[in-house]
Amino acid sequence: MKNLVILISGRGSNMEAVVRACAHEAWPARIAAVIANRPDAAGLMFAASHGIATAVVDHRQYSDRAAFDAALAQVIDGYQPDLVVLAGFMRVLTDGFVAHYSGRMLNIHPSLLPSFPGLKTHQQALDAGCRVHGATVHFVTPTLDHGPIVLQSAVPVCAGDDAAALAARILKTEHVIYPRAVRWFVEGRLALDGERVTLTPPEPQWLFLDDTNANAKDNANAQAAGEGA
Ligand code: GRF
Repeated sequence: MKNLVILISGRGSNMEAVVRACAHEAWPARIAAVIANRPDAAGLMFAASHGIATAVVDHRQYSDRAAFDAALAQVIDGYQPDLVVLAGFMRVLTDGFVAHYSGRMLNIHPSLLPSFPGLKTHQQALDAGCRVHGATVHFVTPTLDHGPIVLQSAVPVCAGDDAAALAARILKTEHVIYPRAVRWFVEGRLALDGERVTLTPPEPQWLFLDDTNANAKDNANAQAAGEGA
C-alpha cells in the first residue's frame, strides 16, 4: 500500500480526480493527507468530507522560502509519503525541497511542456497562435515547470477561444491524465532514465481529446473564405 500526499493551493479539482480514481479503481494506495499553503483552499473541504487528513502550512507565516519549505517537508514527511502529488500547488519550491523528493514528486502543468512554463499558459498559447495546447504530468526537478514527462494531453485551439474556454477544455483532460499517471507510479510502472520516463508495460503516454467539433468549424470557416473543397 503506497502513501500519497497531495498538495493544493485552491480549487483542488485535480486532487479530487486523483482521490476519486484511487477509491473507484481500488489502487494499492491511500491518500494519506491533503496539504494546502492557504487556509481558504477550497479543496480542503472536499478532502475532509472524504475522511482524508488535511493540514495547512500557510506560507505567509514564514520569513522566507527555505523556512516555509522546511516546515512543509516536516508536515509531509509525518505522513511517510511514497509520492508527493502537486495539484495546483502555486509555490516555487527550493532546490533542497525538490531534491528531498527527487523521483517521488509529480506535478501537472497546463501546457505542452517544454512550451509555456510559468503562469497564464492559456493566454500564452493563444498569443503564440498555437493550434493545439494541452497539459503535462512530469516529475519535478529544480527548474520550474520542467522535468521528465510522464504523460501529456492535447486539445485543439478553436477560433474564438479565450483563455477561459481553452483552460476549461484542457482541465477535462487533466482530470484524466493526472490520475492515470499517479496510478502508473503507484503500480511501479514508471522508471526514470535521465530526462526520459519509461512506462512498463508500454501504453500511450499521450491523450488527444477533440470534443469541440473543431474540424467542422474549421471547414465551415474555410468554405466561408472561399477555400473550401
Ligand atoms: C490546473 O490547471 C493545473 O494544471 C495547474 O493549476 C490548475 C489547478 O486546478 N497546475 P485545480 O486546483 O486542480 O482545480
